[in-house]
Amino acid sequence: MLKGSFPVGEFAGMRTPFYYYDMPLLRRTLAEVTAQASRHPDYHVHYAIKANFNPVILRTISAAGLGADCVSGEEIKVALASGFKADGIVYSGVGKSDAEISFALGAGISRFNVESSAELEVIAEIAAGMGLKAPVSLRVNPDVGAHTHANITTGLAENKFGINYEQLEGVIRLALSLPSIDYKGLHFHIGSQILDMMDFVALCNRINQLAVSIRGLGLPLGDINVGGGLGINYQHPNHLDIAGFEAYFATFRKHLVLPRGTAVHFELGRSIVAPCGSLICRVLYVKEGTTRKFAIVDGSMTELIRPALYKAYHRVENISSDEPEEIYDVVGPVCESSDVFVKATAIDRCHRGDFMAIRSAGAYGESMASNYNCRPFPESFYWEGKATADPRPE
Ligand code: LLP
Repeated sequence: MLKGSFPVGEFAGMRTPFYYYDMPLLRRTLAEVTAQASRHPDYHVHYAIKANFNPVILRTISAAGLGADCVSGEEIKVALASGFKADGIVYSGVGKSDAEISFALGAGISRFNVESSAELEVIAEIAAGMGLKAPVSLRVNPDVGAHTHANITTGLAENKFGINYEQLEGVIRLALSLPSIDYKGLHFHIGSQILDMMDFVALCNRINQLAVSIRGLGLPLGDINVGGGLGINYQHPNHLDIAGFEAYFATFRKHLVLPRGTAVHFELGRSIVAPCGSLICRVLYVKEGTTRKFAIVDGSMTELIRPALYKAYHRVENISSDEPEEIYDVVGPVCESSDVFVKATAIDRCHRGDFMAIRSAGAYGESMASNYNCRPFPESFYWEGKATADPRPE
């Protein structure tokens, strides 16, 4: 089986399971996303912190000059502490608390992506009380269905996100009328793990139509934030280790028709960090079941919940073995029958103590970890071509 190259000899002192980050791959990815985005003078990329807020990863991304997309006051704090500039931070979320709004205003972030008129009024009131003007974009629910998992599509009318078309004109007028609101533009996000560029074409078409009708009403358009969502190839991490940024940005350059000089913001998470991360586990036991063989590993849904939560596929490789393949279910120790990484999959023959790599786990892996069953949070190993200890405090 074709496998990624892992410095297995360096893993001896590590407590498994742990997250392994290929830092040269992350830097190559950042160079590619920056190069492709800069083919349009008005494109700005923000990294969606929720995908992975490991401070070493964040510092690497902020050093590449990206902005940040945050979804809570704590994410804004983490972004600022990791070198992201306040004027490059955008803040989304349907349920921002008063304390979070005050904090974000005080920090001087660049944009609130506002999801309802009720939220707009609260932000206006808090900003007025602080003697500030809140920079606001309105998040539109574009009613565009993305061809992805139902739990991670966000742009449908039935989803909780954004303001619907019928209400939009009224909410823009409200924003323009509130003295403590600085109306800046519109925000969209249709979902995640999107590989069909036609979904983004549909989004562009909706934005183009909306831009025409808003201008027809004599209202300002402002700038546009198209959200994130670009997917990665989970099947072939060794052949396709960098997401298709070229086709993605080309889609927007071709299909998004906006007045010259309109800034376009992107909020990419998964496509930036998923490929560089793997969850490294050890095989605890190989067990012959009645109908199948189990490789029981020491990693579980508490470190990587995506397979259990979304039935998401992550490629699993035995990086200690070159023996012939056998068919395994790779399962964790947690007391849930959904604690399964893959089922009926060909993997090089497993023995107790082998290292297994669960690939493409850099996004929504460590950031969604829990300590269910009193399991400790995983540590991290940053591969730079030589071993590095985890520089984070315990
Ligand atoms: N902007 C907004 C407003 C978002 O809600 C999200 C993700 C992003 C940007 C970044 O999307 P990305 O480029 O990463 O697709 N836990 C799920 C994914 C949830 C995505 C939530 N929103 C998973 O593991 O697949």
